[in-house]
Amino acid sequence: MARDNDAPIGVFDSGVGGLSVLSEINQLLPRESLLYVADCGHIPYGEKSPEFIRERCVIVAEFFRAQGAKALVLACNTATVAAAADLRERYPDWPIVCMEPAVKPAAAATRSGVVGVLATTGTLQSAKFAALLDRFAADVQVVTQPCPGLVELIETGDLASPALRQLLKGYVDPLLEAGCDTIVLGCTHYPFLKPLLREMIPASISLIDTGAAVARQLQRLLSQQDLLASGHPLTAQFWTSGDLENFRNILPVLWKYSDSVRSFGL
Ligand code: DGL
Repeated sequence: MARDNDAPIGVFDSGVGGLSVLSEINQLLPRESLLYVADCGHIPYGEKSPEFIRERCVIVAEFFRAQGAKALVLACNTATVAAAADLRERYPDWPIVCMEPAVKPAAAATRSGVVGVLATTGTLQSAKFAALLDRFAADVQVVTQPCPGLVELIETGDLASPALRQLLKGYVDPLLEAGCDTIVLGCTHYPFLKPLLREMIPASISLIDTGAAVARQLQRLLSQQDLLASGHPLTAQFWTSGDLENFRNILPVLWKYSDSVRSFGL
């Protein structure tokens, strides 16, 4: 694959959620050029089969490789549990960075001994998530909460709508009742809900996501392979398999620039 320092990095999610990770990458690595594919035409991944998600991931990975991407960031927890192993096997020499719900830091941080995890049904039902709990959360109680419907409402770009508020409250209340003092945002769409969540939960409860850790992992991998960008200013290009106008309207809300967006027709 491309060994060019100034080649772009491909970042992928089922929709706009990965923009929360893209922002962390941009903050830590402002010289990197970024390609972002939002597979909005097939959202939500959280309710799709692992086979379907794996197929989509390979299509997007091949697209990034054709664009000369030097690395891939799978900025989606649900796609990670379904496809990370397959992608790493297919492309053993390509740096690939994936998501992982922040169970480990949450288990280390909790004082009440009760941790909540908000994530998609696909993530919570996966063997990879079960292994994560076995490995890092044996000494704490973990309350998991699948959140069907949340991603679709976030995709509208209205992050304070009454419908979103009501749905989110129904998912968060059981975590509060169970005594959680730490809540893991285990889907890359959910960091965009932090302002709304802050209105619903006491200030003493911590919200943890892994966007910044993923950006640091990307930096480590690129640096190990001597692939960090050498000095060009950031450029970002966007594609969506969903409605182009909708994505164009949401982009300036969730990403600080209104870069160009094209249709992803694969
Ligand atoms: N953003 C994705 C994640 O991190 C999932 C969204 C979806 O269900 O499509 O899990």
